Amino acid sequence: MAGHILIIDYGSQFTQLIARKTRALGYYAEILPAGLPLDGPLSQKPGALILSGGPASVDEPGAPSLDRRLLDSGLPMLGICYGMQLLARLLGGRLTREAHGEYGPAELEPTAPSPLWSPLNGSGRLRVWMSHGDRVEEAPPGFKVIGRTPDLPVAAMEDPGRKIYGLQFHPEVHHTEKGMELLQAFLADAGLKADWRMSSFAKDAVEEIRRTVGPDGKVLCGLSGGVDSTVAAALLARAVGPRLHCVFVDNGLLRQGEAEEVSRAFRTLYPELSLTVADSGEEFLSRLEGVSDPEEKRRIIGHTFIEVFTKEASKLGRADFLAQGTLYPDVIESVSPQGPSALIKSHHNVGGLPRELGFTLIEPLKYLFKDEVRELGAELGVPEELLWRHPFPGPGLAIRIIGPVDRESLALLRKADAIVREELRAFGLDRSVWQAFAVLLPVRSVGVMGDGRSYGQAVAIRAVTSVDAMTADWARLPAELLARFSTRIINEVQGVNRVLYDISSKPPSTIEWE
Ligand code: XMP
Repeated sequence: MAGHILIIDYGSQFTQLIARKTRALGYYAEILPAGLPLDGPLSQKPGALILSGGPASVDEPGAPSLDRRLLDSGLPMLGICYGMQLLARLLGGRLTREAHGEYGPAELEPTAPSPLWSPLNGSGRLRVWMSHGDRVEEAPPGFKVIGRTPDLPVAAMEDPGRKIYGLQFHPEVHHTEKGMELLQAFLADAGLKADWRMSSFAKDAVEEIRRTVGPDGKVLCGLSGGVDSTVAAALLARAVGPRLHCVFVDNGLLRQGEAEEVSRAFRTLYPELSLTVADSGEEFLSRLEGVSDPEEKRRIIGHTFIEVFTKEASKLGRADFLAQGTLYPDVIESVSPQGPSALIKSHHNVGGLPRELGFTLIEPLKYLFKDEVRELGAELGVPEELLWRHPFPGPGLAIRIIGPVDRESLALLRKADAIVREELRAFGLDRSVWQAFAVLLPVRSVGVMGDGRSYGQAVAIRAVTSVDAMTADWARLPAELLARFSTRIINEVQGVNRVLYDISSKPPSTIEWE
């Protein structure tokens, strides 16, 4: 995709926002973690570079830098925060380390005209958002200072000849006034065209898949019923049609009606598609018997999944490629310049498969965010009820039953969970929460039902708002809805006499309980 934006990621928590905002403006952006090989990204001929912020200090040993080929590439460049400091250091400016740094709002005063300030129409100051430890004291030769704040002599700088800009503040965050417009001004000045649409992404992705797979290649795709694998399959179906084989593993840990819903929807949508449903609940449940430890559950489920998938795949004959619905946040987490993030949970996906089976991996969604995947799905004609399903973890209900997993607990949790989802939909809130589900607790408590004593189980309800599952807050659901959950679950799910609502945010809690 020539003429796109290449964002070099120095580890800022806001890097994803840069990509999201520029795409929302109609410019395609890809993110490359600093230090990764450049040949591939450069061969795609980007039209501009954005250097992100980052937690390091430019002068500390091992701090990520910028490849000389990029610095000398002649591409228009925008350095944000760390990115600006790096440009200043590499091009001969002067930096100092601050004792305390500056975090939060600041008042930016433009000090010289610049194409970047065109959204201001000559009017006054901007409230901007800062988050930095170092500062640029003197801009490099050839640069002019175009903005300052009461604390910073060089809050924005520009080399008009080379179209290189530096901003100490973060235009990509919501709290920076006119931030989007500033990004747009840079991109317009760089001569980029705002012509990127999801439809062009779909078209390019289909062509790319066809090029990779060739005229005879066969592709295998593990369907989970979730948005990501559904949209990946829809894209592949469009690209290679009957040479795509989907395998849906029913591990016996799915939600009520899930296996039927997913296979029905797929068979209706793509009647000519080959879809195998592997009914393997027995295998999974027997291996999980008596296991309480969350990581052990995840390990067993992950291994069994690989076994079942391999067995089903081998029945289909040789396939050369394996398609996965890996999203951008999954990619970035595993290759951030800070190294892989600490292991919180071993997330289950089909990541172990390509290595074991010698497949070539196809990940057509790896530069997209969840909301973009939904947009792409709509573009491809995937029905709304599939696109708006809440994320559901690979290990399924097993990690929502605290303690050992058995058929009775699964049946009980399925009923409670179905009520939660049904009532949320009835209140019209299923799209405004990220996920809502029930968790079965290993707790019994005393109650009174009818005139008798009950000693039943407790169900917790978890509902969170989030944009990417990296952070989440508990959803402020209306009290009447919480009351509906409780009344219906206690009345309709035999064995439950107590319902709790989880009011923990992530961090420090995670979304799932295990
Ligand atoms: P946590 O619990 O880590 O979850 O806050 C973040 C998001 O990931 C989902 N999740 C998983 N998804 N395989 C998946 O595909 C997994 O093993 C897994 N574990 C958690 C979780 O539902 C939430 O959306």
